[in-house]
This record gives sequence, structure tokens and C-alpha cells, in this order.
Amino acid sequence: MAAIYSDLAGAVVIVTGGAGGIGEAITRAFIAQGARVGVLDIDAARGAKLETEFGDSLLFVPCDLTDIPALKAAVQTVRDRFGPIGVLINNAAHDERHATLEVTEAYWDGRIAVNLKHQFFAAQAVLPDMQAAGKGAIVNLGSTSWVIGQGGMAAYTASKSAVLGLTRSLARDFGEFGIRVNAVAPGWIMTERQLELWVTPESEKEIYERQCLKRRLVPDDIARVIVFMASDEAGAITNQHYIVDGGWN
Ligand SMILES: NC(=O)c1ccc[n+]([C@@H]2O[C@H](COP(=O)([O-])OP(=O)(O)OC[C@H]3O[C@@H](n4cnc5c(N)ncnc54)[C@H](O)[C@@H]3O)[C@@H](O)[C@H]2O)c1
Repeated sequence: MAAIYSDLAGAVVIVTGGAGGIGEAITRAFIAQGARVGVLDIDAARGAKLETEFGDSLLFVPCDLTDIPALKAAVQTVRDRFGPIGVLINNAAHDERHATLEVTEAYWDGRIAVNLKHQFFAAQAVLPDMQAAGKGAIVNLGSTSWVIGQGGMAAYTASKSAVLGLTRSLARDFGEFGIRVNAVAPGWIMTERQLELWVTPESEKEIYERQCLKRRLVPDDIARVIVFMASDEAGAITNQHYIVDGGWN
């Protein structure tokens, strides 16, 4: 049974990429808190399924987050339905691998757009609501990939390390309005995509060798930390980069 944070009942939350993977676990965790959740995701089928499951508590807005005007319109759609946004979880990303010598300028820009740029503009779209309320919480999803020096995905690791700088600048600029901004950096989390694409018996062996905790980490491990970070229980925590990796680092 997960902890319940009473201040999150009725909170208006946006989860980007909230229809699949870790984002879906985050969406479900906020719904369990009694929050009203706007899910912005490109996966229309999964989003519609969640909307059917959760009815009035969840609004799915299909949206390609690399399209910034569409992102801003989607935030407004959530605001029109549920009211001012109190919590933003910048979760969406795409961890496609790429060989450095084959990366074109257009491909690079596309990776930055899907892994970094929307985090800034989603924050920009909700910050005025939070300023007016005198409080708010933003949690940006980072990654330990750049911390451990992972190769084969330079545009992804560059984006994910930049999430830390983005987080700390926003925390500095908006702390005076009672707005907290933190980053949560997952280790290796066993989402459907990871299991399908990357997890092999050899890599699983590495998990058990490198993690202090000898078990698979799952999306709910991240969702629980994020809900805590968004709650008043974390009311003095801002400007932080919190690693959840079972002790890999
Ligand atoms: N799974 C891991 O091991 C792991 C490790 C470190 C960090 N992370 C981070 O956690 C977050 C979630 O990762 P995940 O593993 O759940 O990813 P995932 O690929 O399983 O899910 C990503 C979600 O984002 C959505 N999405 C992707 N591109 C989009 C776009 N252009 N517009 C709108 N929605 C889009 C997808 O439809 C999907 O629902 C990411 O920020 C990722 O970098 C994950």
C-alpha cells in the first residue's frame, strides 16, 4: 500500500508521456492520491484506454510534445477542464540509440526536442498558474545514463544532463513564489520498452552485479518518489537531483 498525501487530493497534475512506461505508473499514482490528472502523450490508443478506466479524474490530450504550440494548447485544454495547474511532471522522453558518426543535424535537433526542449516549455506554460497560487511543484525526469557514462546515445545523455541545469535554474528563479523544482533520475527501470528492446540475460546479470539492491526496479519505484516530491511532505525540497537506481551508482 503506497503512502497517501492528503494535500494531493483534488490537485491538478499534468504528466507528460503519462500514457506508457514510467509515466503511466506516475499517472496511476496521482489518481490514487485523488488528484485530477491531465495526460499529454502521443500514444492515442493508450491514452484513450486510461481515460476510459479513470473517467472524470483523467483527461487525455493527444499531443506530440515536440510541437511546442500543440504542447501549449494541450496545457490550456487541461486548465480549461480542471483549473490552474498545481503539479507538472515532465516525464516524456525517447531513449533511441544512435551512432555518433551517423547523427545529422536534423536528427540531433529531433532528439533534443523529444528529450529536453518540451520540459522547458511545459514549465513555462504552467508557471504563471503556480505563481498566482503561491505554490507549485515541478518534477523533471532525468536519467543516470550520463552519470554512469553510458555510450551510444550522446543526444539523449546530453539532454538528460541538461535536465539538471534546467531544474536548478527554474528552482532558483521561482523559489520566491513557493514553487519547488526537482529532478528525479531513474536507474534502469523495467518498463515494457526496456524489456522488449534492451534487457538480455547478460544485461540482467549486470543489474544484479551493479545494484546494491538485488532486484529489478519497476515503474512504481519511480512513481512513489515522484508523488512524494510533489507533495507537501517534500515542502522544503527544491533544486535537487534525486537518484533512484537501487544503488547502481
Ligand atoms: N526506463 C528506464 O530505465 C529509464 C531510465 C532512466 C530514465 N528514464 C526516464 O524516465 C522517463 C520515462 O521513461 P520510460 O522508460 O517510461 O519511457 P517509455 O518510452 O516507456 O515511455 C515514454 C512515454 O512518452 C511518450 N512519448 C514519447 N515521445 C513523445 C512525444 N513526442 N510526444 C508525446 N509523448 C511522447 C510515449 O508515448 C510513452 O507513453 C523518461 O524521461 C526517461 O528518460 C527511464
